[in-house]
Amino acid sequence: MSLHRLRTALLLSASLLAASPLMVVPQTAHAEAVAPWMDKTLSSDQRVALLLAQMTTEEKRLLVFGYASGDQLTQIDPSVIPGLNTREVVANVIPGSAGYIPGIPRLGIPAQFQTDASMGVRNHLMPRTSLPSSLATAASWDPQVTEAGGRMIGTEARLSGFNIMLAGGINLLREPRNGRNFEYTGEDPLLAAEMGAGLIRGVQSVHVVSTVKHFSINAQETGRTTLSAQISEPALRMSDNLAFELAIERSSPGSVMCSYNKINDVYACENEALLTDTLKRDWGYKGYVMSDWGAVHSTVQAANAGLDQQSGFPFDKQAFFGESLKAALSDGSVPARRLDDMARRILWALIDKGVMDNPVVKGEIDFEAHHRIAQTAAEESLVLLKNDKALLPLSGQKRILLVGSYADKGVLAGGGSSSVSPVGGNAVTGLEPKGWPGPVVWQPSSPLKALQAQLPKARISYLSGDDLSAAARAARSADVVIVFVHQWAGEGFDVSLDLNGQQDELVRAVASANPNTVVVVESGGPVFMPWKDEVRAILSAFYPGARGGEAIARVLSGEVNPSGHLPLTFPASEAQFVHQALPGGDLPPNSSFTVRYTEGAAVGYKWFDLKGYTPLFAFGQGLSYTTFRMDGLKAQAVEGAGERLTIGFTLTNTGAREGKTVGQVYVAAPKSAGWEAPRRLVGFRKLSLSKGQSQTVSLSVDPRLLAVYDEATSEWVIAPGAYEVQLGAASDDIRTRVTVTLAAQRLAARQGKTVP
Ligand code: BGC
Repeated sequence: MSLHRLRTALLLSASLLAASPLMVVPQTAHAEAVAPWMDKTLSSDQRVALLLAQMTTEEKRLLVFGYASGDQLTQIDPSVIPGLNTREVVANVIPGSAGYIPGIPRLGIPAQFQTDASMGVRNHLMPRTSLPSSLATAASWDPQVTEAGGRMIGTEARLSGFNIMLAGGINLLREPRNGRNFEYTGEDPLLAAEMGAGLIRGVQSVHVVSTVKHFSINAQETGRTTLSAQISEPALRMSDNLAFELAIERSSPGSVMCSYNKINDVYACENEALLTDTLKRDWGYKGYVMSDWGAVHSTVQAANAGLDQQSGFPFDKQAFFGESLKAALSDGSVPARRLDDMARRILWALIDKGVMDNPVVKGEIDFEAHHRIAQTAAEESLVLLKNDKALLPLSGQKRILLVGSYADKGVLAGGGSSSVSPVGGNAVTGLEPKGWPGPVVWQPSSPLKALQAQLPKARISYLSGDDLSAAARAARSADVVIVFVHQWAGEGFDVSLDLNGQQDELVRAVASANPNTVVVVESGGPVFMPWKDEVRAILSAFYPGARGGEAIARVLSGEVNPSGHLPLTFPASEAQFVHQALPGGDLPPNSSFTVRYTEGAAVGYKWFDLKGYTPLFAFGQGLSYTTFRMDGLKAQAVEGAGERLTIGFTLTNTGAREGKTVGQVYVAAPKSAGWEAPRRLVGFRKLSLSKGQSQTVSLSVDPRLLAVYDEATSEWVIAPGAYEVQLGAASDDIRTRVTVTLAAQRLAARQGKTVP
């Protein structure tokens, strides 16, 4: 059965289960209070060691095997699963959820209740609060925003009975057409890591394990389970894996999810170089690796390569970590110490993240408070890309026309396993596809109603835009027209950057009828805007979440000053893509193929810099209703081993109102350094400044951001020489530069230690 069909079947069966009396999730049994591993004064490692010593082999095997939800479970052949008690699993799995791993009551080990994903609790039977897409919140350039969001969705997870969230997607935006770009945090390793780490810290702050994913280089959905991503080790360490490395250091996620694809011809979930050498050895990762749903292909190779838990059976063809693992353990092809290590890692996550000490208790959710958090996140994330002659904020216009994209009803969300069912129901129903990875969800947050509430004196109306001449006619008699356009993206498919239907024609028809045209773009990632020069203002909303309509209205009206900046580049045309044609796009489904990431670590703006391309909108762009000065740039490197580059600068609000800006620091290396591209982002800071206010910032640069990975010695190498430090409001808006001389330096890849 294909993954899609299997998922649909599981969801359907979960609906049936929901109606069954078996759905009650029992309270996790507690171990005796005297159990020594429950002693919170001991370290997590000590507690795990004490607990592991009590476990039988059968119990350890129970921990490493996960189930999906659904009544397929009753059809599983019990002989392939360790100690399977189908009734127990079916009775306890939360219907509609991602997965379940039974607990071990005699030892107080809680069952693992798994839920997707990064925007919120995803369960078609449970309406929950949706954050803006992860790409949107990455546009806030403020890890406190994602951390607050993570805390909110983690709280909803706990109150819904879950203790494991599959939240923390940070794959780099390498392929602009990737259908899951909205689930990730953009194209730059530092920004992606910082924003993803914020979310993970937030989720884990309420004692829910968070899962950084999809490890690694799962950059497109076309052929995701069959393609081999080909990339050199240095390029991988300096790009996608650098994002994972930094995110893991900054947030200590309890688990890592290995991806569907192969990397250099070896499946990610049985890839020793990735899971053991890079993640566990070099980065010193102590948590566990869970597979993506259906991403396991072997028992011995996967177990010995470093996979710790098979997820979501029966998504995989076989119960690889079921009876076959038992056989492999008894013939020694998987050593007993490997099973111990798997169990140790899972227990470490459950203890260290407080899951074991704080059993989940279902309860009521304060949706109003949580929706406000989603709204704040959206308000920090909306990116004003164009605002000719300060058309925005709206001021005093009497007749305002909104056109298109159901702006009278709601705002768009992405599809697939991260799609949160909205509180209040889907605002627009009946759109294709109805089945997986649909339904197409529109959060019931109407920009029209929100704008009417914001501007009670204006006459604000809406037209669907289906009839272009009617839209143009109506536009003529409006003072300002706001056209909403959208691109739906989701898991399991890739997208075109051309807006579908006649949306481009609609913008053009309206813009030619009324010069005061604003376009609001709701998209999974970048889109083309052939009408860019014909409209006066453009606001990028990505997928703005449960209160996106309110956030958009408040930015348009000026109640909120926009402060988002692009975490990605918007290409001007396909000619600027690394791969002109989508790899595998012309092959029949299930074909195996190789995607050669010849750009290596030159992802996003680095690729554009390297090629000298001018994008539609550059990485880091984002306008405000006020203006800022950026000056006082200083860069200092303290000589000697372990030297750190420190940067100082001053940001000043020079405009007429309060606002937020992001000081973005890029470093350009001398050619001899051998960087993948001329420049890298090495630091950033978002500040809120009142009118006339100044603030000084100081940052310390992670040495890996100045280095090149040397595969031969497994070291990060900083070349000596003169480096240019640039401070700007966007990658193409550098305001000031200084030069700093760096000494030669080498750092061991193993947890970034300096080599004397
Ligand atoms: C997705 C994961 C998700 C898992 C469980 C997979 O199809 O790739 O991101 O967490 O399903 O639903």
